Amino acid sequence: MGKNILVTGGAGFIGSHVVERHVKEGNNVIIVDDLSMGSRENIVNSDHVIFYQKSITDYEFMSYLLKKYNFNVIYLLAAIASVADTIKRPYESHQVNQEANLFIMETLRINKLFPERVLFSSSAATYGALPKLPKKEDGAVLPATPYAIDKYATERYILTYAHLYNIPTVAVRFFNVYGPRQNPKSPYSGVLSIVSHCLKQNVKFSLFGDGLQTRDFIYIKDVISALKLAETTDKMIGDVFNVATGSSHTLLDAIADLEMVSGKKLQIKKFEPRIGDIRDSKADISKLKSFGFRPKYTFSEGAKAYWDSL
Ligand code: UD1
Repeated sequence: MGKNILVTGGAGFIGSHVVERHVKEGNNVIIVDDLSMGSRENIVNSDHVIFYQKSITDYEFMSYLLKKYNFNVIYLLAAIASVADTIKRPYESHQVNQEANLFIMETLRINKLFPERVLFSSSAATYGALPKLPKKEDGAVLPATPYAIDKYATERYILTYAHLYNIPTVAVRFFNVYGPRQNPKSPYSGVLSIVSHCLKQNVKFSLFGDGLQTRDFIYIKDVISALKLAETTDKMIGDVFNVATGSSHTLLDAIADLEMVSGKKLQIKKFEPRIGDIRDSKADISKLKSFGFRPKYTFSEGAKAYWDSL
């Protein structure tokens, strides 16, 4: 029979990999995506996938959908995922990144719908520019953009639904995720998708800063393993987890690895650092590790797998 899985943002980068995994496991997946960020090509082609091109802010529709399917598992991945975009339209992004998710939780509560798990995608952005490394879940946060504020507030709301209303929720804070199906076309896309695109097309890469900024890059397949763990481990309910590798690379090192696997040399044009850019980022992943998580891909392996997929 299979379970009913809802993936909001299922046509996006991370969402499409979640859909793929559940289809492989024989489940039925319902995708809600307005294609503002995601794309039709990312939608997994299967009889077990139903796609609704709708915004999660369409409350009448979301209410109908949640009652109709009584989902076993819900992934809340739909978002205005570009920090810069949320700075340009803070209220609109608040409606998507926070209000719409709260509406989903309220619909579950009021209608006494109890999925086995609700997973929410929070972000390392919640830590802001705090200099202390590695970033730890119980350490300080300093959300400093509309994006980060909404992610943090929603994360707190979501976890509160576990503590107050017994709806089994988990929140994850993604660090720098990369891999197949990450759209390289926007200037706010993940940097490695842009680097790969530039290598492939032999076009110049715009490097902001000296390239010595560091990031905790995690390959999408390791993210999917972490999410599976959060979905199936009851002891993780009501808590938040960093999803990262626990080690960081400079941007220049990451570029060097991609140059090696591609056999190409990146043409670089240097610019001033981006305003608001974080210099260094690295996660403490001991909390996730205590539940058995081990990232399988070293950066070089992830870079190779990514390049080979292009
Ligand atoms: C990432 C996330 C963001 C999240 C933040 C949390 C993405 C797209 N963004 O931002 O949602 O809030 O982590 O820490 O995953 N760069 C260039 N040239 C480019 C693009 C980027 O030099 O063309 C540089 C940036 O200036 C930055 C680094 O590469 O220093 C990484 O940039 P990016 O991939 O956008 O990620 P974050 O800024 O870390």
